[in-house]
Amino acid sequence: MEASSDTISRKLLNWYDAHARDLPWRARPGAPAPDPYRVWLSEVMLQQTTVAAVKDYFAEFTRRWPDVTALAAAPDEEVMAAWAGLGYYARARNLLACAREVAARGGRFPDSEDELRALPGLGAYTAAAVAAIAFGRRAVVVDANVERAVARLFALDTPLPGGRTAIREKADAITPDLRSGDFAQAMMDLGATVCTSRTPRCLLCPLSADCEGRALGEPERFPVKAPKKAKPARRGRAFWIERDDRVWLVRRPGKGMLGGMRALPDDGWHSRGDGSGEGPLDGPWESAGKVGHVFTHFSLELNLAVYLGNQCDSLPAQEGEWWPLDRIGEAGLPTLFAKAAQLALAGTGETA
Ligand code: ADE
Repeated sequence: MEASSDTISRKLLNWYDAHARDLPWRARPGAPAPDPYRVWLSEVMLQQTTVAAVKDYFAEFTRRWPDVTALAAAPDEEVMAAWAGLGYYARARNLLACAREVAARGGRFPDSEDELRALPGLGAYTAAAVAAIAFGRRAVVVDANVERAVARLFALDTPLPGGRTAIREKADAITPDLRSGDFAQAMMDLGATVCTSRTPRCLLCPLSADCEGRALGEPERFPVKAPKKAKPARRGRAFWIERDDRVWLVRRPGKGMLGGMRALPDDGWHSRGDGSGEGPLDGPWESAGKVGHVFTHFSLELNLAVYLGNQCDSLPAQEGEWWPLDRIGEAGLPTLFAKAAQLALAGTGETA
């Protein structure tokens, strides 16, 4: 075995030339680099999110805001609402901060990994991906797909997260000087379509002859992961207050969970909460059931209470707005609150 890094990158690039996924933010393999704005936008959207989930959002964002200057000029609320459903909302806040910084510098993204890394919200992964894909710079791009493929290729068995250092070193060793953007995307495609988590399709893999994980007979054992901690469960309450075919919506504070997003009023669902927190009005309230949602660090059971009283006038006007029920789909509610709204509008039952 022991193929040279050149051989590995050549095999992988040949495979990519024939099998690259045709994705809206990509150039064809070997073609001139795509627009950095589109590369950056897609890479931010693709963090922790699948290609299938991102495609429609990418189309809508680039239709409404075709370049970084247009995005920089967009009102915060519009961008946050357009991001609704994609999750990890800090990404959208950072996206805007970054667009505004790039626009202030004349609308051109810097072309080196270090300068990209200094922009708001660009972590090591995104800076490397944009440098390689949009600017043809040699950069080592390691996402979860690449991590899996490299761990298998070299049978790296130090459990994650500690094992990431060795994975990165090996990824660096096989990254070519030329076409490193295509190489990165080839690794991603390999991880997403061939070197998949559960049942890798080794017979289709261009690197199967070089793969130490396969030689050991158990490629799916890699990467080894430290046992997952169980997520703590939280409970909270959200409040549905309806008047004249409108519902009372608030905007969440800029920082923190779902920051800056439109939402139903809630009780804060703090870690100590037992799901019986107070609403913004004295009541009476009627329970409408509950919805569940899993966040990165905890799972949440949200009980929905519907207001039955007639004191709507005492809601503080500057803290919310009466949103028309027939346009609830345009409110840009994050998935948790969209589920709760669905429950209220359906009148009965539970959604998961
Ligand atoms: N995941 C993250 N970035 C990607 C890209 N450029 N192509 C495919 N999948 C990706």
